[in-house]
Amino acid sequence: MNKIKGKVAIITGGASGIGETTARLFANHGARAVVVADIQDELGEQVAKSIGSNICTYIHCDVTDEAQVKSMVESTVEIYGQLDIMYSNAGIVSKSDQTVVDFDMEQFDQLFAVNVRGMAGCVKHAARVMINLQVKGNIICTASALGRIGAEQRTDYCMSKHAVVALMKCASKQLGKYGIRVNCVSPFVVATPLTCKVFGKQAMEVEKMHQTVTSLKDVVLKAEDVAEAVLFLACDESSFVTGHDLAVDGGYTT
Ligand SMILES: NC(=O)c1ccc[n+]([C@@H]2O[C@H](COP(=O)([O-])OP(=O)(O)OC[C@H]3O[C@@H](n4cnc5c(N)ncnc54)[C@H](O)[C@@H]3O)[C@@H](O)[C@H]2O)c1
Repeated sequence: MNKIKGKVAIITGGASGIGETTARLFANHGARAVVVADIQDELGEQVAKSIGSNICTYIHCDVTDEAQVKSMVESTVEIYGQLDIMYSNAGIVSKSDQTVVDFDMEQFDQLFAVNVRGMAGCVKHAARVMINLQVKGNIICTASALGRIGAEQRTDYCMSKHAVVALMKCASKQLGKYGIRVNCVSPFVVATPLTCKVFGKQAMEVEKMHQTVTSLKDVVLKAEDVAEAVLFLACDESSFVTGHDLAVDGGYTT
């Protein structure tokens, strides 16, 4: 416990799924403050309240709007005096299958606005304040197993997650001189509201569907496993790790 004692963290997409689970884990590991940033205000407020208003605050932030991202980062620094960890995690999936012959370009643009431009804005503004405050901070992005391989469908999503890995690699090269580490976590399928909606199934069914696909048999990936990987990248145990895409995929992409 207490792997990130006294640290101040922002988690985008923190109202649900992997982000929410990570917010809880960060709080359990001694974070001084966890800022949950999302567009689902009611849910975000509930998550912050259940973690504890002494540690966790909810901020409305649509990551597609750079002004909101800048303001979220700046108000975190105003309230808590610093920023140690940015976990840029917010992401979406398009409604349609998005095969190359069937791209819906409006959905494509919307997805890129969140998954790529939104991530870039979060990395940019977190890096700026960390440099200004001379904080040797940690930036972690959620990519995906589909950021490492091709996909039969969900082409826009697969492309966006490859872009997240490229963003992380560039940022790690450029920010290393300030002592800022930048890494990705790349999960296989986890049952969250996002995947339940994509597959039109309940969480247990989503897990059952994917249980036999990875190299690890009879092991189910949970949001907690992803959160533990994020915690590792956010804490001093990974102090010489930067520019790394940590697959949490049971060997699926190997
Ligand atoms: N669940 C999986 O199987 C899986 C696998 C690989 C990668 N991922 C990635 O993990 C991340 C989290 O996904 P999840 O499965 O926990 O899904 P989720 O839907 O439970 O959580 C995503 C959160 O992002 C928020 N969000 C969406 N658009 C936003 C915006 N414009 N600004 C701010 N917040 C926004 C949503 O409101 C939601 O709370 C995503 O980047 C996703 O692509 C998920």
